[in-house]
Amino acid sequence: MAASSVLRPGLFKHRVAVVTGGGTGIGKAISAELLGLGCSVVISSRKAGRLEAAAEEMRQHIPASSPATVTPLPCNIRSEDEVKALVSSVLQQFGRIDYLVNNGGGQFHSPAEDMSSKGWKAVVDTNLTGTFHCCKEVYTAWMKQHGGAIVNIIADMWKGFPGMSHTGAARAAVDNLTKSLAIEWAASGVRVNAVAPGTIFSKTAMENYKEFGSHLFKMSIPFSPAKRLGLPEEISSAVCFLLSPGASYISGATLKVDAGQSLYRSMWDIPDHSAWPEAPEGENMDGMKELLNPRSKL
Ligand code: ADE
Repeated sequence: MAASSVLRPGLFKHRVAVVTGGGTGIGKAISAELLGLGCSVVISSRKAGRLEAAAEEMRQHIPASSPATVTPLPCNIRSEDEVKALVSSVLQQFGRIDYLVNNGGGQFHSPAEDMSSKGWKAVVDTNLTGTFHCCKEVYTAWMKQHGGAIVNIIADMWKGFPGMSHTGAARAAVDNLTKSLAIEWAASGVRVNAVAPGTIFSKTAMENYKEFGSHLFKMSIPFSPAKRLGLPEEISSAVCFLLSPGASYISGATLKVDAGQSLYRSMWDIPDHSAWPEAPEGENMDGMKELLNPRSKL
């Protein structure tokens, strides 16, 4: 379970949050921290069993004195109808939605040339369109009249995302969507921000990516300026801050929580090759050849 929050105890008392993908990995850490701060949290994903088990585990950690509750509600965010039903059910049960965390998503490793249209669409539908469905429905059904705060979880796709181009494209689009919504919904008192995690280890991510997961996590350590992986709790603290009154003047921002990874080296290896188009002939080309293959001055 999550480490205790640095935020003030009871900060989110009597508030209600919806966290998609809230039963696993980063989403579970966010849900646990919100719960620890007194917030009632609705966790949502497609897998009802896993969601119920996560909710039961989180319930064990809620003190008897806390008004917070955790409620699992299954939903496929790709379906606008299911998102409408989710939001309507939360409003029926709790009468408000103060916070939305769009963390639900998924992707698989594949070079772009091997990706089927179906695989591409599934990732874009979940990560981009699913986020749009949730933002739009929570806004129109509640936040438009009452305000609120939204945080979208994206990814370290700032140098492209070779090997997972579908999710790179979708997450970059959510970065832009975050800015558009921050402006469109400002007049309703709705703040919209994003968090872009670096390489974050979680048990769920390991299971999800199978044997590739352990390889990916181990090999990515030298690519972090921190020389270690991040943990879900290190994303959760940033998300809870952005939802909190401490971030009351922050909207349309994307906070990179990656120890500077996005400023550092790319993990994608390009083998030596001679396929690149020739450079133009001339004195600079001659100088470059001389630099690389100097003729003897003797
Ligand atoms: N997490 C991954 N895919 C999802 C989906 N389609 N709906 C909700 N949560 C998800």
